[in-house]
Amino acid sequence: MKRTLILAAALLVAAACGQKAVNLQDKLTVNDKQIDALIAQMTLEEKVNMLHSKTNMSSAGVERLGIADMNYADGPFGIREEGQPNGFMSAGWTLDSATYFPTGSALAATWSEELAYKYGTGMGKEARLRGKDVILGPAVNIQRLPVGGRTYEYLSEDPILSAALALEYTKGCQDEGTAVCIKHFAVNNQETNRGSVNAIVDERTLREIYLKPFERAIIEGGAMSVMPAYNKVNGDYCSENEHLLNEILRGEWGFKGFTVSDWGGTHSTMGAMLHGLNVQMTGSNYLGQPVIDSIATGALTEAMVDEKVKEILRVRLAIEAVPADVANTVMTSQPASQQIALQVAQKSIVLLKNEGVLPIKADVKKIAVIGQNAVLKTQSGGMGAGVKALYEVTPLEGITKRAGAGVEVVYAPGYKNFPGIFRWGRPAGAAPDPLEAAAIDEPADPALLEQAVALAKEADLVLFFGGTNKSIETEGSDRKDIKLPCGQEELVQALRAANANLVSVLVSGGPTDLQVLEPASPAIVQAWWNGTEGGTALAQVLFGDIAPSGKLPFTFPVKLEDSPAYALGNFPGSNAGGDLFSLMFRPDVMAMSPQERQKLIDSLPKPESHYTEGSLVGYRWFDTKAVKPMFAFGHGLSYVNFNYGPMSAKASKEAVKVSFELTNAGEMEADEVVQLYVNRVNSAVEWPAKELKAFKRVTLKAGETRKVTLEVSLNDLRYWDVDAAQWKLENGELELLLGSASDDIRQKATVNI
Ligand code: BGC
Repeated sequence: MKRTLILAAALLVAAACGQKAVNLQDKLTVNDKQIDALIAQMTLEEKVNMLHSKTNMSSAGVERLGIADMNYADGPFGIREEGQPNGFMSAGWTLDSATYFPTGSALAATWSEELAYKYGTGMGKEARLRGKDVILGPAVNIQRLPVGGRTYEYLSEDPILSAALALEYTKGCQDEGTAVCIKHFAVNNQETNRGSVNAIVDERTLREIYLKPFERAIIEGGAMSVMPAYNKVNGDYCSENEHLLNEILRGEWGFKGFTVSDWGGTHSTMGAMLHGLNVQMTGSNYLGQPVIDSIATGALTEAMVDEKVKEILRVRLAIEAVPADVANTVMTSQPASQQIALQVAQKSIVLLKNEGVLPIKADVKKIAVIGQNAVLKTQSGGMGAGVKALYEVTPLEGITKRAGAGVEVVYAPGYKNFPGIFRWGRPAGAAPDPLEAAAIDEPADPALLEQAVALAKEADLVLFFGGTNKSIETEGSDRKDIKLPCGQEELVQALRAANANLVSVLVSGGPTDLQVLEPASPAIVQAWWNGTEGGTALAQVLFGDIAPSGKLPFTFPVKLEDSPAYALGNFPGSNAGGDLFSLMFRPDVMAMSPQERQKLIDSLPKPESHYTEGSLVGYRWFDTKAVKPMFAFGHGLSYVNFNYGPMSAKASKEAVKVSFELTNAGEMEADEVVQLYVNRVNSAVEWPAKELKAFKRVTLKAGETRKVTLEVSLNDLRYWDVDAAQWKLENGELELLLGSASDDIRQKATVNI
């Protein structure tokens, strides 16, 4: 009853604001009659059997009624290697190598809705080849902390950019017949204590920042399933959060599909049953026999179970099960998807700085490639987001191939790499690799440094590869700082002293502290963890075959302490805790009884994370507080200059529209990502200094001019009025700021709305 009322209220608000009340979720109800008939034939045991895991990556159907199991796959950058039924250990298959797509922040750096859609289709297609129904992705939480262990998995610090890409990924994937399971709902912005932390966030910030990407993917994209996060939001675990799951997701957004807890993230039978969870992953200690027992005592009703089963069956019937004799008959990774991975990588690379060193000049005959990140494969590691790729072109391979016979490419490791707790690729107990550091802040190794400097002296150009790796940036922990590890700073200074013709290439998923590297580097490139064809794309950009066109999806602060959660002392919080996921899969914990396990979980510290910076996340903070970043949100240079003609702006009852002419003043084809920000003039409501509201990637031939139009729906200019508990539009003056980056505004105009 409550849900129906909220939904009706939401539709009224939508109608009052002229919003089209089209909700793709409604498509999921077309089979409801058939589903009711199926449920009528099921025993209570069969129904409850659908509410928890069957294997580590599946939940049960009902064979006798022709209802197939639901098969899940991680997500989000490639279909994960097939694991054993009871865990993540490799199943040892040979046809399960998948395409490794560029990671989340790389996809976001393309600012391309078109590529996000294609990316989704690639994921969706490969999922079908592997017999999977649901991809555990996209991962769309806002990048709140520069140190965030999953920054590389997530898209961006901005809700508009993240929402647009989340929507297209969802559409692309589901158009291929694979459901998405959008994650992690919600406010999962830190790995520190992720299994127990209570994120305390005000309602306006929640709506305007943290929920936006989910909202669009669900309403406009029809996302069929949702993964509640490990953490708590405002007091309740996400997997049993009435406000998030029942009031907002189902009530206001009209979600008709099903929710799947994050692995080990279900916490009680009653909480989960009453407050919005459909499937416990993994285990059955809450949504198995205890449900049947609770019905017997009258605490729960069978009708509640029916409702949950119905929501699961809506997706089961919408997604055609892949027949067992068709699944896994060809290699998961297919050339068409590899091409998509290449296209995304090509458009994601961000040229942060360039004092004329790039593109590589024709007179460069010897290149010294320095740094282990040039040979690092980034497909695996990082826990859930690892991919067993069919192949991966490293930067060194890409550069060597592109350089061809006329250019000598020499390589030195330069520094030791930090292997972290997962010691990627190395069997436990094996002798340490001499190129592995014992600690992340181990200083530069004198012998490696000397060898690298000697190569740098003899070369025409030095390409220094720094950054992090997937042990440093990983699910399960946050970085302790954003410093470049293992003596990279000392090394880059020594290289610069040896050869002024130097380019620094950052191979990482999140931002790094560049206070030492930046002055030492005439050119800097952010190359990401860029998928199966990452090295190919990077070489094309470095040699000038294509112009760089990626734009930063997050701010590079000068130093960590400048970023909002640090400046306000909101992170790291006080109570240290553990990673629930790692805990659940520890052999001694797996051997415990459910009761003992729960006792252990209950004994974990109860940390809180206060979001007092409100909506001032990322550039919103830096702009509003006038703190200069190292590189601003939206920043990214090209090999050409773009001229922005005068902007005309018009406001109607539905939207604000701006038009202008964009010219590629250079000598090669290039893409520009035009960005429109708004600033409210004399507003009675509190706003950040400016907010991104629209963007477009435009490809222009050398010398070409094109008219570009951007539109912002008035709905997207509304704010969440906490007292009225609804979206409201504030009339008044709006300053429109059009530019090439958040700190590079080229045209301004004012309209009244
Ligand atoms: C992660 C999820 C992932 C799941 C299954 C969890 O640890 O948080 O993102 O989908 O494991 O691998």
